[in-house]
This record gives sequence, structure tokens and C-alpha cells, in this order.
Amino acid sequence: MEYLVGVIGAGAMGSGIAQVAAMAGHNVVVYDMDAAAAAQSRTSLERTLQKLAEKGKIGDAGALMSRFRFVTEMNALKDCGLVIEAIVERLDVKKRVFSEVEQIVAEDCILATNTSSLSVTSIAAACSRPERVLGLHFFNPAPLMALVEVIPAVQTAPGLTDAAKTLMSAWGKIPVIARDTPGFIVNRVARPFYGEALRICEEGIADMATIDKAMTETAGFRMGPFTLMDYIGHDVNYVVTETVFQSFFYDPRYKPSFSQKRLLEAGWLGRKAGRGFYDYREGAPQQEPVHDPALWTAISERIIAMLINEAADALYLNIAAAADLDLAMTRGVNYPKGLLQWCDEWSTEKVLAILDGLYNDYHEDRYRASILLRKMNAIGAKFF
Ligand SMILES: NC(=O)c1ccc[n+]([C@@H]2O[C@H](COP(=O)([O-])OP(=O)(O)OC[C@H]3O[C@@H](n4cnc5c(N)ncnc54)[C@H](O)[C@@H]3O)[C@@H](O)[C@H]2O)c1
Repeated sequence: MEYLVGVIGAGAMGSGIAQVAAMAGHNVVVYDMDAAAAAQSRTSLERTLQKLAEKGKIGDAGALMSRFRFVTEMNALKDCGLVIEAIVERLDVKKRVFSEVEQIVAEDCILATNTSSLSVTSIAAACSRPERVLGLHFFNPAPLMALVEVIPAVQTAPGLTDAAKTLMSAWGKIPVIARDTPGFIVNRVARPFYGEALRICEEGIADMATIDKAMTETAGFRMGPFTLMDYIGHDVNYVVTETVFQSFFYDPRYKPSFSQKRLLEAGWLGRKAGRGFYDYREGAPQQEPVHDPALWTAISERIIAMLINEAADALYLNIAAAADLDLAMTRGVNYPKGLLQWCDEWSTEKVLAILDGLYNDYHEDRYRASILLRKMNAIGAKFF
């Protein structure tokens, strides 16, 4: 590849993205304002590449390592053709960094942000040439997760989105295009996986272990919602839910749960803290699920119907194309099946029966079915 790639922020995501770019053939400049973070990124990349070389997955680790420069001066980004920002998730800081980097790079340098939850349009607005800005949302760990959400801002130049999509494919990624709306695709569509599981548990319909069992055993997910929330960490998962809820002007569909908020307040952040919904400390008793396949089916169908509803509504609102919505969930978060495909297999009638049943019971807006499902059901249409 002919151009130099710059990465701003040498944390978990920046280091992973730098590795992906180097493995795709680019020379990469990794800039962090913190010298210790830049040094740590170099050390961990060296270790990772060494391991990959030992496993025969890459050739010479040293040769690959020579593609990187780790710097603490933003000026070193001046010759880059693409700069991807992966710094702290704060709009004011990102805006400042974008306006600064724009004064350093050439006029045709593309500027991308890896933000998970901020508006790409707001970040672009900090630039005098906002048409060169877009979102490239990688998933953690970036070298292993194939999905990249490509997010054009309102100001992004026509053509840049497709060019970025082509580049991400060339980097071996699976790019999907998402509209610049809260949570993009994955962090929006996945909300009911957590939210509805929490609701079922809080109401006492089933305990955590039984809900997890329903989602793994009956629905085929790799991890149940409580295990997954503990794995992600409540400092991340709860905060994403709260941000999405606020960004959607408090739509009750995304309402966070008090049980999860309390875990965060207690510092029971999940697996990394030794405690979360489950107790991971040495010798702690394990919770056993209730063996009730009929209950497992009821739980999994309720959560899946809510997920399908979210995906259908995202399609209806033009957040992404149907194929991209399904790719995002299967390749970004390893769902066993795309949600729209799942709906085709179940029928819109079945999904609507579950959602309308919930709506009639609760009289809550949270359970409103997407108009798209009703329209499709009326004419017997399928997504694919
Ligand atoms: N961690 C994830 O799972 C994940 C997934 C997708 C996207 N993201 C997004 O990626 C971005 C980075 O996340 P992370 O988990 O890698 O964070 P991190 O805390 O691991 O790393 C951030 C790095 O940015 C550096 N930094 C902060 N402010 C800076 C500045 N003004 N100039 C230069 N360097 C600066 C810090 O020193 C740190 O090394 C965030 O926007 C986050 O929302 C994170």
C-alpha cells in the first residue's frame, strides 16, 4: 500500500488498529501524548507479532515491526494519507485533536474516528474540511474481530464511504455501512440482548443462570447475557446502554437497569473484578440453572423477538441495509444467525405475536413492534 497510516491513541484499540494496518502492508505511525502508553503499545505489539511468527501466522516479526513508528509528537503524522483516531471517548477532546491534526496533515488526508458512541458529525464539525472525516468503528480486539462499521458523517464527501469500505475489505475486514446514529448498528441492535434479559430477571420470571442457559442452549448464542455482561465489564456495558438511552432522547426501549447500575456502583465490574452478576472468586458457589426447556424457549423467544424488532426498526429507519444488519450481528458479536434471517425463518407473524403479547400485558412503549414488521406481515413479505 502506498500511503502511510497514522493512528492517534496507543491504547487497546489504537494498538490493534495499527497492527491491522501494518499487516495489510502499510507503514504506520502510532501517536500518543503519553510516552508510557506509546512504549507499552510497542512492547505489546512486539510480543503479539512474535507469538504470531512462532505460530507461523506471519513471516518475520522483526520486518513487520519495522513498519511501525511510535511517537509522542503529533507532527509525525504529517505525511499520512489516512489517520485513525482512537483516543479517550470524550467529544471535547476528540474535537480538539481533530482540529489540531487537520493543521498538520495534507489537504487530502482522510481522517477517521473509532468512536463507539459519539456523533461522527459532531467530530467532523470541528474540522475546516469536514468532508474528509468519517467513522471507522473497529471491534475489540481489532486484529481478531472482522467487522468494521463505516459511518459517514452528514458532511462526508460522496464517494469517501465506498472508498473506505473498499480499503477495509483490502485490510481483510468485513465492512458494513451504518448511519451516524447512536450505537451505529451493533451497539444499538444488541441492546435487548442485555436489557430484556435484565428485565426478565428483575421481574423474577427466571434467575440469571436459567436465562443464560436459555440463550446458549435453546437459542445457540456463545454466551448468555449475564455471562457476557460480566465479561465485557459493567463499566463498559452499562455505560454504553446509558449513553444509547440518553442519545435516543430517553426512548424506553433502551432504558438501563438498576441491578446493573448498582453493580457498577459497588465496583463489581464483572470477571475482571472477580465479581459481577456471578461470583468468580476461588471456591465461590456456582449458580445452577433451572432445568425447564419450556421456560428456556419462552425466555429465548422473548429476547430474540425484541432483537429482531430492533433490527427491523433499524432497517425501516435506514440505519443500514438488511444484509449489513445481519453481517454486523453475526461477525461483530458472533450471533448464531442474522436477526432478519431469523425473522424470515420464524415468520413476521410469530415475532408480532410475541411482541404484541408483551405490549398487551405491559402497556409499555418498550414493547411496540416496528411498523416494518406489520407492513411486511400484511403482505407476507420476507427480508431476503
Ligand atoms: N475498548 C473497546 O472495546 C472499544 C471498542 C470500539 C471502539 N472503542 C473506542 O476506541 C477509542 C479508544 O478506546 P480504547 O479502549 O483503546 O482506550 P484506551 O484508554 O485503551 O486508550 C486511549 C489512548 O489514547 C491516549 N490519549 C488520550 N487522549 C489523547 C490525546 N488528546 N492525544 C493523544 N493521545 C491521547 C491515551 O494516552 C491512551 O493511550 C474510544 O473512542 C472508544 O470508545 C473502544
